[in-house]
Amino acid sequence: METKIDVLGISGSPRKGNTEILVKKALDVCESEGLKTKLVSLADDISTDEILGYMCDARAIIIGSPTYFANVPAKLKDLMDKTIILRRQGRKLKNKIGGAIAVGGSRNGGQEYVILAIHNFMLIHEMLVVSDKDTAHFGGIASGRNLGDVVNDKEGLETTENLGKRLVEILALLI
Ligand SMILES: Cc1cc2nc3c(=O)[nH]c(=O)nc-3n(C[C@H](O)[C@H](O)[C@H](O)COP(=O)(O)O)c2cc1C
Repeated sequence: METKIDVLGISGSPRKGNTEILVKKALDVCESEGLKTKLVSLADDISTDEILGYMCDARAIIIGSPTYFANVPAKLKDLMDKTIILRRQGRKLKNKIGGAIAVGGSRNGGQEYVILAIHNFMLIHEMLVVSDKDTAHFGGIASGRNLGDVVNDKEGLETTENLGKRLVEILALLI
C-alpha cells in the first residue's frame, strides 16, 4: 500500500503557540529532505477519527506538547487514550517511528516528564522511539512561556531540528 504521509506532526496544545512552531520546525527539516509531511493541531477543529486516520497513514509520528503541570494537557491525553482502538484492532501503530517535543514556560518545568509520557505512549503501541540527532537526549526540549517565545530558545530549536534530522536518518535506513 502506498504511504500517503512520511511524517505526521501532532501539535498537542489547545492553543496555536510554541508547540505548533516547534512541530512545524521539525517537519520543515523532514520536508527539506524530500519527505512528505502533514501537521495536525489540536487547536484546530479536527475530529479524532481524522487524526487516527493520519496516524495510521504515516510512517513516522512526531508528537509535540506543552508542559502542563509536568504532564501533557488533557486534550492531548484524550487523543492518546482514544488511540487504544488502534492497538486493539491489530496494533496499527506498530513499527512506526516516533519522536517527541516538549515545551514549558520554565527551563526545567517538567519537559522531560512530558517527553517520557509521550515515549511511554509510543512504546506501548510498539512504535520505534527516536531521540534528537547529535544533541542526542530525548527529543526536542524547549522553554518559552508566551506565544512565540520559543523562537528565542536556541537550544530548544536546535534539539527540535535534530529530532527532525534523526527521523530523516532512520526513515532512510528503513526504505
Ligand atoms: C495549565 C497550564 C499549566 C502549565 N504548567 C507548566 C509546568 O508545569 N511547567 C512549565 O514549565 N510550564 C507550564 N506551563 C506553561 C506552558 O507550558 C508554556 O506557556 C508553553 O509555552 C505553552 O505552549 P503553547 O504555546 O504551545 O500552548 C503551563 C501552562 C498552563 C496553561
